[in-house]
Amino acid sequence: MQKLDRKALKQMWAESKDMPLTNEVIRCLMERRSIRDFTDEPVPRALIDVILQTGIHAPSGHNMQTWQFTILRDVGEIQRLKEVTARVAAASKVYFYGFNEPKALILVSNDRRSHFKEVDSACAAENMMLAAHSFGLGSVWINALGPISDEPEIRALLDEYGIPKQHTVIATLAMGWPKEPGRLLAKKQNVIHWVE
Ligand SMILES: Cc1cc2nc3c(=O)[nH]c(=O)nc-3n(C[C@H](O)[C@H](O)[C@H](O)COP(=O)(O)O)c2cc1C
Repeated sequence: MQKLDRKALKQMWAESKDMPLTNEVIRCLMERRSIRDFTDEPVPRALIDVILQTGIHAPSGHNMQTWQFTILRDVGEIQRLKEVTARVAAASKVYFYGFNEPKALILVSNDRRSHFKEVDSACAAENMMLAAHSFGLGSVWINALGPISDEPEIRALLDEYGIPKQHTVIATLAMGWPKEPGRLLAKKQNVIHWVE
């Protein structure tokens, strides 16, 4: 029935002994890297549809689901947004980097009145980046739109895209087929602290 047999899994892990404790999901989580350079191939809509479903299945505080996911796949439009963002970010002294030539963008916006807007959006964003990675797609979180969402030139574009006025963009996910595999950056191990 394509459902997890939780009893069998519990028993399997309990008896795992020297068996490596890994599976496809763990590998996907460990192997995802931020990817900023993409080939010219477009991202099929069917893949984006599944990726979006993983976004809406993310947890949210009080299950409020106050987010919206806005998708751009037209490379001309993506470039227009990039140019406007670069200009406004520079004028606002907001650091703008890593937005090269993605073939799809998912703007994760959220209601500015929501107490959980950033954390809920981050949960959804990470689900979607992991889902993208599971398909062999690359992605990176671009931050700059957040702090400048209300600058008039940016808001005019967000209006065009149908993003509600009470929303602020929390994450911009740039996606595409990776030009090359991502590089594993050093991950601090000393941030894990057991109390026992
Ligand atoms: C909140 C947040 C904001 C980020 N902003 C940017 C950004 O604006 N531009 C960019 O290229 N990468 C951005 N990143 C990606 C990080 O640089 C990247 O996750 C980090 O260097 C670790 O690399 P990894 O994702 O390959 O493990 C951001 C990531 C997060 C979680």
